[in-house]
Amino acid sequence: MDKVILAYSGGLDTSCAIKWLKDKYNVEVICFSAFIGEVPDKKALEKKAKASGASKVYIKDLKKEFAEDFILPALQAHAKYEGKYLLATSLGRPLISKHLVQIAQKEKAKYVAHGCTGKGNDQVRLEVGIRSLDSKLKIIAPLREWEFKTREEEIDYAKQNKIPIDITKKSIYSIDKNIWGIAIEAGVLEDPWVEPPKDAYVMTRALSEVPKKSTTVTLEFKKGIPVSLNGKKMPLVAMIEKLNDLAGKYGVGRLDLIENRVVGIKSREIYESPAGTVLMTAHEELEALVFDRAHLHYKKLISEKYADLVYDGFWFTPLKEAFDAFVSKHQDRVTGIVKLKLDQGHVIIAGRKSPYALYSEALATYSEGDMFDHKSAEGFIKLWGLPYEKNVGRKI
Ligand code: ARG
Repeated sequence: MDKVILAYSGGLDTSCAIKWLKDKYNVEVICFSAFIGEVPDKKALEKKAKASGASKVYIKDLKKEFAEDFILPALQAHAKYEGKYLLATSLGRPLISKHLVQIAQKEKAKYVAHGCTGKGNDQVRLEVGIRSLDSKLKIIAPLREWEFKTREEEIDYAKQNKIPIDITKKSIYSIDKNIWGIAIEAGVLEDPWVEPPKDAYVMTRALSEVPKKSTTVTLEFKKGIPVSLNGKKMPLVAMIEKLNDLAGKYGVGRLDLIENRVVGIKSREIYESPAGTVLMTAHEELEALVFDRAHLHYKKLISEKYADLVYDGFWFTPLKEAFDAFVSKHQDRVTGIVKLKLDQGHVIIAGRKSPYALYSEALATYSEGDMFDHKSAEGFIKLWGLPYEKNVGRKI
């Protein structure tokens, strides 16, 4: 019997998908669950998958790999889709594709399947990722194919087939969460005029509930990697988790975005990325201190394109690799300490220092000890403005 590896979450869709795949494709269903956020009760999840008809279940805690191989490159690239979204969901998909392919190859499976809907970006990312890594695998997307039109029909199907489901837990929103952030959509949020209700946010406090007094955070970077928080060394995952708590408490990292999806529609989604917002600000501030002007300005173009590639599902591509090479080339200079304030929903730069700082107080000062050669400014300006001097006929 052919095998299918199903990316399984334990929710209604992927639970129904197990039985549906078995009936429709006459396959053995092996489930794979990746955890890149909170790790749930593995035993319970495995039991549920088996009770739904899976022959085997792989559950992997991939937070470390997610942080080091996916979040970190995106952080160093300053990747923000449409200038704002830190790409938490988008970054998780190529990681899941990679493990789906690995398990499929190990199990000699003919198919892989996922529970993404037919109008989102995630189906694109997962499938492009899978095909980039193993184009021989056949992909099945039950939600694009099956007959159920409503959630109620799915629930009936589950009941008829004795598929264990937990319908009480269903949120009124569609949520995707991992350590880099959370994406929240649907329900009342579908009207872009409606202000997100208080209960829609998960990781951050409302401004009315944040501490009155600000707090200061110091972050030390070594070669572009955040290594210690407030003087305490910690691995990347622990640092992200700690900062999610801390910055979330100060209401940092909220975003309400009308975004342009790959599949052509505009959607409204709210996001929270407390740790991401702090780390991104800190990394950008440190680069501003240690990179020269042309490098910094050029990097902005790379950042924008990098974010597009991640959003669009092109993680495993030559261009993305080339961008990684550009970004990592000078990360050894991104070493130093950044001081930030968390204050009423804002993250505010308060100070930065680095052994590689290009900033020179002797050149910048307006006080005594100025080393800047004021005289050479004269000749410089003459040449700088030369092309426009003989612009005859310009009126003011
Ligand atoms: N729009 C975001 C993206 O494409 C998040 C998608 C998942 N969102 C969700 N609420 N389930 O990366």
